[in-house]
Amino acid sequence: MQKILVTRKMPPAVEDRLAASYDATFNPSDEIMTTEQLLDRADGMDGLLICPSEPLSPETIAKLPNSVKIVATFSVGHEHVALDAARDKGLVVTNTPDVLNDATADITMLCLLGAARRAYEGEAMVRKDQWKGFRTTMLLGTHVSGKPLGIVGMGRIGQAVARRARGFDMKIHYFNRTRLTPDREAGATYHDDAQSLFSVSEFLSINCPSTDETRRLLNAESIAWLPDGAIVVNTARGDIVDDEALIAALKSGKIAAAGLDVYDGEPALNPAYRGLENTFLMPHLGSATVETRNAMGFCACDNLDAFFTGKPCPTPLT
Ligand code: DGY
Repeated sequence: MQKILVTRKMPPAVEDRLAASYDATFNPSDEIMTTEQLLDRADGMDGLLICPSEPLSPETIAKLPNSVKIVATFSVGHEHVALDAARDKGLVVTNTPDVLNDATADITMLCLLGAARRAYEGEAMVRKDQWKGFRTTMLLGTHVSGKPLGIVGMGRIGQAVARRARGFDMKIHYFNRTRLTPDREAGATYHDDAQSLFSVSEFLSINCPSTDETRRLLNAESIAWLPDGAIVVNTARGDIVDDEALIAALKSGKIAAAGLDVYDGEPALNPAYRGLENTFLMPHLGSATVETRNAMGFCACDNLDAFFTGKPCPTPLT
């Protein structure tokens, strides 16, 4: 039986499947390992099942024991793994795409509606017993129907967001490295640069991966391109947003509200977000449904199983 180090606690169904097929070392306390602990525990392992909480830099990859032949990350995002270094070492890396598209798109709509309809303020009013009854001017939000929604990154998650937003009668615009085929575009308006997209986006949803090109894409300059009073949603990666710039825009009213599920340096988010009433804040729940987390774990297992039986991995990154 191959030895697998599972760096974080997995959903029970996933741990059951791993235990049936592998000599798996689990992490029942779910404590995040330091890089030193990871390297130490990887000794003698054939494979690793990691999460984005375990960054594998080029230096760490170079120090991984040669017994480790595959790293399966329990995530679609893979900015925490230095893929070039992994390739150079002959290490197979896999991720878990597709299975989280719907759950992440659902959270995007939750954040969009939560920001537009002032859900945080309304919730707090009810919980703190401050609701004094109907008032025609109480907590008025922003209407979504008929409004343009600009989607940055029209991959599988972006397309799932578009499908949902169409159900709210929003008009879909997008910016992507390549234009989609007409059937995938489904009537959405393509913009071949970010400025063009931002300039029409009364709502903006960030659904692209974190890369050298997208890091700090939402910054003081690009915020100025947005219509006044725009609403911004980020369910992709925190480092795509320049927090200081977004916080300044939320304070000035240039941006009316933001719905955020991800943060630069999370869970240590910029504390100013907590003090702003025009934010709707979630703790990186994009893929957090039982069904989705099981599917992500099973996708990682499928990759390990394929690798160790000499078959092509279903979702390889290297
Ligand atoms: C992913 O899969 O990349 C999600 O953001 C969870 O980390």
